[in-house]
Amino acid sequence: MPGATAPPAAPTTAEKITDHRRKYQEAVGDRDAAAAAKQHPRGKMTARERIAGLLDPGSFVEFDKYVRHRSHGFGMEDNRPFGDAVVTGAGTVHGRQVVVYSQDFTTFGGSLGEVAGEKIVKAMEFALKTGAPIIGILDSGGARIQEGVVALSNYARIFRLNTASSGVIPQISIVMGPSAGGAVYSPALTDFVIMVDRTSHMFVTGPDVIKTVTGEEVGFEELGGALTHNTTSGVSHYLANDEHDALDYARALISFLPDNNLAEAPIYDSDTALEITDADRRLNSIVPDSPNQPYDMRVVIETILDAGDFLEVQPLFAPNILIGFGRVEGRTVGIIANQPSQMAGTLNIDASEKAARFVRFCDAFSIPILTLVDVPGYLPGTDQELQGVIRRGAKLLYAYAEATVPLVTIITRKAYGGAYIVMGSKQMGADFNIAWPTAEIAVMGGAGAVNILYRKELKAAADAGEDVEALRADLTARYQADVTGPFLAAERGELDNVLEPAGTRLAVVKALRGLRGKRVEQSTRKHGNIPL
Ligand code: HXC
Repeated sequence: MPGATAPPAAPTTAEKITDHRRKYQEAVGDRDAAAAAKQHPRGKMTARERIAGLLDPGSFVEFDKYVRHRSHGFGMEDNRPFGDAVVTGAGTVHGRQVVVYSQDFTTFGGSLGEVAGEKIVKAMEFALKTGAPIIGILDSGGARIQEGVVALSNYARIFRLNTASSGVIPQISIVMGPSAGGAVYSPALTDFVIMVDRTSHMFVTGPDVIKTVTGEEVGFEELGGALTHNTTSGVSHYLANDEHDALDYARALISFLPDNNLAEAPIYDSDTALEITDADRRLNSIVPDSPNQPYDMRVVIETILDAGDFLEVQPLFAPNILIGFGRVEGRTVGIIANQPSQMAGTLNIDASEKAARFVRFCDAFSIPILTLVDVPGYLPGTDQELQGVIRRGAKLLYAYAEATVPLVTIITRKAYGGAYIVMGSKQMGADFNIAWPTAEIAVMGGAGAVNILYRKELKAAADAGEDVEALRADLTARYQADVTGPFLAAERGELDNVLEPAGTRLAVVKALRGLRGKRVEQSTRKHGNIPL
């Protein structure tokens, strides 16, 4: 037909492949190069570099690389980068599958709009249906301001999925930049929060809002920095020196955890000695002669664990209690231990909440719990009482009472009062209770008991001008000798054994072997009502 132009020739296969390569380069190579230029000067990696640092080399399979936002207004229609503000996918850590999402701060501030939210939801659903741990790498300005309610509703979907995944798959959050506003509640719902010193910040309301509303002046670091959340608020479980350290800690954590609540934690080769070693014998002299002298419970933990390898969780928060993972005969155990070198190992609100959450994590994922006890009691004081040590301390009781995993308890020295009961005592449900000859088990310590039991005698001695302190020391020594040793408890079956410290590691090995088949019928109630 005259004047008609020929239709364009259909692209060849080679042209289609070239077009794909161009789009791939735009979505991955160009974006990452641009991101690196912005992130590296701030001491931060790009979203993709972080994933590469987390996963086994070459294992990453990306989801939704080519999605784009559908937002209008604020000039958004002219800026529709592939993949939006988050990179998602699956890969392996130590050869085992994990699912990951990594927010890209260089795209719309890593903010979560409709499409970025859908990507994260898809990744979380994939993790849940395949029974794989999910690791979120957060670096975001929060809900995408341009998108309004769709952004908020996606946060709601994420929170629900966090909750549905709780106790089903391990969830780890690595905060590597800002995490502000309601967005902080996704990490808070996960099992472990890792923060990077100086470059990560979490807060519900930032310094500007605080200044406007309350007049307080506070900086980002003091308010929501990694140090604050590791030492003071207890929001974070590990303070990483830098991003590499954060990723290494997450990989180490994964090595101790099962893929999901129906799977066993991985079993590693071990050369556990089946006779008492020189290192075991050193425990015979770890408890000082004076009951008021501290020692480091970490030494006991490291003696018991394979290769002394203890991955501590929340080491900087409530250091009067130690929690973390290790292995015995190549199998994961969770450790909860009073630390006599910090606040004499007393239990307070922070220690109770820290340990309670850990007990519940181990129980949900079938990880046996080893409890090491040296606790003079709950920390006395108005501060604790008024902050709710009754309600908040009860969490640890609830957690132990509810736990059905193998529970092995070793009392090394003090185990007084309510603190004795809560720290994995026999009637709280522990399976093997062992004490060292140095154990002191009673309602309270000698000094306190003598003051109550012998108040009249002490007063009479004082009135008669006698040496009250000598009398008090004598009564205390007698009380200690008669009442507080381990054999009264052993006589009543509250302890299964009293043994030399040197035999502890082997006793733990045998106890855990014996408990491998432990099964407990679960009640059919919907759920209990833990004091929160
Ligand atoms: C859209 C955002 C954004 C957001 C940052 N950006 N936050 N875009 N939505 N929420 C964009 C910025 O416009 C900027 O774009 C780029 O990201 C980098 O931000 P800067 O401010 O230049 O970076 P920086 O100085 O490092 O400050 C980072 C920041 C700050 C502290 C996160 O951006 C900030 O305060 N953002 C707002 C945080 C916030 O209030 N979010 C809402 C929280 S409430 P350009 O184009 O200039 O590079 C929330 C509700 C969740 O999230 C509800 C769940 C229930």
